[in-house]
Amino acid sequence: RILTLSLMGAALVAGTAQAKDYDTVRIGVDIPYVPMEYRQPDGTLAGFDIDLGNALCEQAKLKCNWVIQGWDGIIPGLQARKFDAIMSSMTINDDRKKQILFSDPYMTPPSAWFTPEKSTLETPDKASLKGMNIGVQRGTVQDNYVTDMFGDEASIKRYATADDVAVDMEAGRLDIAFLDYPTGKAALVDSKDGKFKTVGDMLTEPKKYFGEGFGIAFRKRDRELADTFNKALAELKSNGTYNSLYSKYFPD
Ligand code: ARG
Repeated sequence: RILTLSLMGAALVAGTAQAKDYDTVRIGVDIPYVPMEYRQPDGTLAGFDIDLGNALCEQAKLKCNWVIQGWDGIIPGLQARKFDAIMSSMTINDDRKKQILFSDPYMTPPSAWFTPEKSTLETPDKASLKGMNIGVQRGTVQDNYVTDMFGDEASIKRYATADDVAVDMEAGRLDIAFLDYPTGKAALVDSKDGKFKTVGDMLTEPKKYFGEGFGIAFRKRDRELADTFNKALAELKSNGTYNSLYSKYFPD
């Protein structure tokens, strides 16, 4: 056993870890992040990332387990081998690519602004956001963007989860929130009786922040494992599974 472990260790140091080296692939995810990852009343995980992740594992004949991890510790958790992949609506961008390896994008939604229905703010910019409370999830690309763009004019409120942003929007403690569009739509527009709306442009640029869409992240040496997921993703796209999962969570 010691010999096996040291051989495994040698293989990992040599950078040859492969999908087959993973008896079980542990996937880190931050919840709740509707409609991407959340717990149903019976305690089971649901959401587009969860269903797609499970389908990818099945397609690749991998056994997978989900590991719940707060967003601010999710990249460190991957590096520390608490899990082997991240599937958590993580935006692929150049900054993150310095640290981790990404799969091909599996979805490319924009970021969007959300305000109370009664708000008169129409075009979020330096002038209109002056003195406003902007809500974001801490450590997201949305946080990075508003911090760089409006950090001097506005008061940026950073929350551990996207749900906490929605709670403070409802409580009237925020003027505006900046979130991945699917999550803001689900958490604010669709679920709060018409109390919230989107305003301004949906953003996919600058690429420095909003990059290339959502990808599954791996440790850099796990090229083989990333390729296994890429191959499975292509197969689910061509056999219709991807589309049926997509329309289950994004019917319109
Ligand atoms: N797409 C954004 C980012 O990568 C936010 C993702 C947050 N995901 C989550 N499950 N909380 O920074």
